[in-house]
Amino acid sequence: MNESQNNDFKRIQNKADIVEIINSYVKLESHGKNYFGVCPFHDDHSPSMSVSKDKQIYKCFVCGATGNVFTFVENFLGVSFIEAVKVVADKIGEDFVVHKSKQNTVYEKYYKIMDLATKLYENNLRTKIGEEARKYLKDRGLTDEIIKDFSIGLAITDNDQLYKLLEKKKIPLKDMQDLGLVNNGERGIYDLFRNRIIFPLKNPDGKVNGFSGRIYNTTSNSKYVNTKETIIFKKRENLYNYHLAAPAARLEKSIIICEGFMDAIRIYSIGLKNVVATMGTALAKQQVELLKKLGVKVILVMDNDNAGEMATLSLGESLLKEGMDIGVVRLTGKKDPDEYILEYGAMAFKDNIKNPMSFIDFIFIALKKDKDLSNPIQLTEYINKVLSIISVSSDSLLIETCINKLSNDYHLDKELLKARLTSNEEIKNIKVETKKEETNTNKEVKKSTKFERALSVMLYYMMHSESAMRLYLKEDFDLPKNKYRLVANNLVYYFELNKEIDFADYLTFAEDYEDVVPTVKEIISNVNLPEFKDSDIKAAIAIVRKHLNEEKIKLIKEEMKNELDVSRRKRLFEKIIEIKRGCVGNNEEE
Ligand code: CTP
Ligand code: MN
Repeated sequence: MNESQNNDFKRIQNKADIVEIINSYVKLESHGKNYFGVCPFHDDHSPSMSVSKDKQIYKCFVCGATGNVFTFVENFLGVSFIEAVKVVADKIGEDFVVHKSKQNTVYEKYYKIMDLATKLYENNLRTKIGEEARKYLKDRGLTDEIIKDFSIGLAITDNDQLYKLLEKKKIPLKDMQDLGLVNNGERGIYDLFRNRIIFPLKNPDGKVNGFSGRIYNTTSNSKYVNTKETIIFKKRENLYNYHLAAPAARLEKSIIICEGFMDAIRIYSIGLKNVVATMGTALAKQQVELLKKLGVKVILVMDNDNAGEMATLSLGESLLKEGMDIGVVRLTGKKDPDEYILEYGAMAFKDNIKNPMSFIDFIFIALKKDKDLSNPIQLTEYINKVLSIISVSSDSLLIETCINKLSNDYHLDKELLKARLTSNEEIKNIKVETKKEETNTNKEVKKSTKFERALSVMLYYMMHSESAMRLYLKEDFDLPKNKYRLVANNLVYYFELNKEIDFADYLTFAEDYEDVVPTVKEIISNVNLPEFKDSDIKAAIAIVRKHLNEEKIKLIKEEMKNELDVSRRKRLFEKIIEIKRGCVGNNEEE
């Protein structure tokens, strides 16, 4: 970064108001000194992101995303830092010239060549020579606007149109070859893409780094010819349309994943811009990372065939492992989303997208197919397969519900199923060498009990509602010495100081108490309740009370066992009765 550029940043940062800029993407509301909004960097339900006008920074309490106006735009739009500065400058009407760093220019030269090729292909499509291809695209229902948005072009039948152009521009043959544009073989020098409609592939910054060419006026055994791995094109790091889908996905809080790029284009053209295509069936780790970065729900809409179903299972499994929220849509009647939308219309497709089934429901249904579950061997196979997929998840509640379901549906012992799960996990751990640390935290998560969930819900209510806080104080609980007790005490302290409850304000307050922060985060990311009805609050408190009483009774019974003095035993027994009565009495109060 050079001196003048640095001055530019400061000039723009001083002029820009972070509250206004963020508010142009995410609705902010003012609370005291700060502004709050729903965080776009994770699947947020309540406004966990605070924006400080004084400090000109934003900070999300849950996912920890933090930074200045530039980093917000950078992450929100999925653009580079320099581009983010440019966006902010444009918004406030300041000038900003992008100076490129040396490191970028190494790749820049390749992107320039790809740009030249793209322009040539686009131009071919527009001129006389592109008439037939234009007709093909028109017949498939692609408008001029879509053709432009996706930079669709045409490689003509000539052997070396692109080569000649690039040669005239003094581009070294080696660069053309390195980019997979031109071949220099026994037949001489010739273009790789010939007589095909060209779909440029773009990196997450929107720069063309490869091409896919589709036949349109011939029958050939290869429908598509694609750029192979090159210095700038890594198949594993690309998702078709990611650069346009990322900002749309953050706004929509979901991203649609399909197989083919024709499907992605069709889905985009009916207004769902939050769509990417895998361009094949597997998802590489880097692609999962790209999706995870968005922090939104993923909706899988693979082709309507067996391969699509298998792809849904394996993609779903890789996403489940990352703890992502996954929905599944299975279309019927047509082969893929493209054909489905053409046949049944945009509304029908959107209806499906709005109501996806959960990936877990999909597993239960899909794995059952073609299986006779009255046959013990096939049933065992089925259960093993279900368990093996859900065991990649570290969501203990999810695993518990699945086990309950299997146990209920097939009259199997829960402990047996759980043991299966553990042994599956062990096998997996050996295979993938999971870090020790990870397995420990997993185990900790899995121990979360009904009581702990009730505590979380109760504390969640206390963070949002004064009436919940008052009900809690009335109880005078003696909570077990654990992390939840720390949060409860912290909340009570906050309430004593402020005499009122304001969720956003409490989050800012809690930040100064290191030992409560992780639990507060855990609670607000696991609990999501839109309403704070007194009856619900009381119900949560009642569960907590019931558990505490049961614990007390357990202790007294233990004491009774060792007590030889009959009259003391009697008194202990009465104490139990009293506790039990207390329960009843309190319940009647409601
Ligand atoms: N694909 C490929 N080579 C092939 C077939 C498929 O590279 N011979 C990739 C393409 O990226 C394609 C995706 O796999 O987008 C899905 O393939 P398919 O479902 O066959 O293509 P469609 O999207 O249906 O394409 P179209 O509707 O144009 O036939
Ligand atoms: Mn298709």
